[in-house]
Amino acid sequence: MRIAILGSGNIGGTLGKKWAQAGHDVVFGVRDTNSSKVKALLEAVDGKASADHVPNAIAFGDVVLVAIPWSVVEATVRANAEAIDGKIVIDASNNFGGPVVNHVETISAHAPTAKVFRAFNSLGWENFEDPQFGETQVDLFYCGSDDEARPVVEGLIEDVGLRPVWVGDLDQARLVDSIGSLWVQLAYGRGIGRRIAFKLLSQ
Ligand SMILES: NC(=O)c1ccc[n+]([C@@H]2O[C@H](COP(=O)([O-])OP(=O)(O)OC[C@H]3O[C@@H](n4cnc5c(N)ncnc54)[C@H](OP(=O)(O)O)[C@@H]3O)[C@@H](O)[C@H]2O)c1
Repeated sequence: MRIAILGSGNIGGTLGKKWAQAGHDVVFGVRDTNSSKVKALLEAVDGKASADHVPNAIAFGDVVLVAIPWSVVEATVRANAEAIDGKIVIDASNNFGGPVVNHVETISAHAPTAKVFRAFNSLGWENFEDPQFGETQVDLFYCGSDDEARPVVEGLIEDVGLRPVWVGDLDQARLVDSIGSLWVQLAYGRGIGRRIAFKLLSQ
């Protein structure tokens, strides 16, 4: 799978490393391809990924992961709307405390044929880096259309080492956001710390 990752920080870097190690073709869409942070990240993936400017990365990817600050997502999507259209777009951006936490409607408005998913927003990045708690595998709740794109997104969640739990169509994005809000309250409000995650039990 050809994956464009917008952002090379905690979320983009962590997921990009996992996906490159799983054999995907990963390009980080960045502002400065020569920055020391980007160079260090590319070294950490043993040359299995590359970095390019955001428009080039988007043009390359069949899947686009949005892992940049919430405040810059709209402008980035607007500037690259044509290239994003038709692709699988996974929105991980968060605006906790704001009226809208995600960017799924913004992405759909600018790129109406993009297949938009809400995922990787509800847990701290450390839990993507290491999705096992002893014998227990972390669950990742996500939403988006139940079409041919969903198995692709599920596969990418599994490649990180997480168990995907589909919550429903994109109209469930606010519910998936709430899981992130719960995580933040427990991690910071309750002071439990960032190394916490969720498990759905069923029989
Ligand atoms: N941290 C978490 O545990 C976590 C969990 C779930 C979701 N999220 C969400 O995921 C997103 C990324 O979080 P993060 O923790 O990975 O942030 P981060 O470590 O600060 O990384 C942000 C990345 O975005 C890049 N960036 C900033 N402005 C940009 C622009 N205008 N165009 C292109 N790239 C730009 C930064 O590049 P430079 O190096 O050039 O500044 C950096 O690579 C946020 O929306 C956050 O809410 C975070």
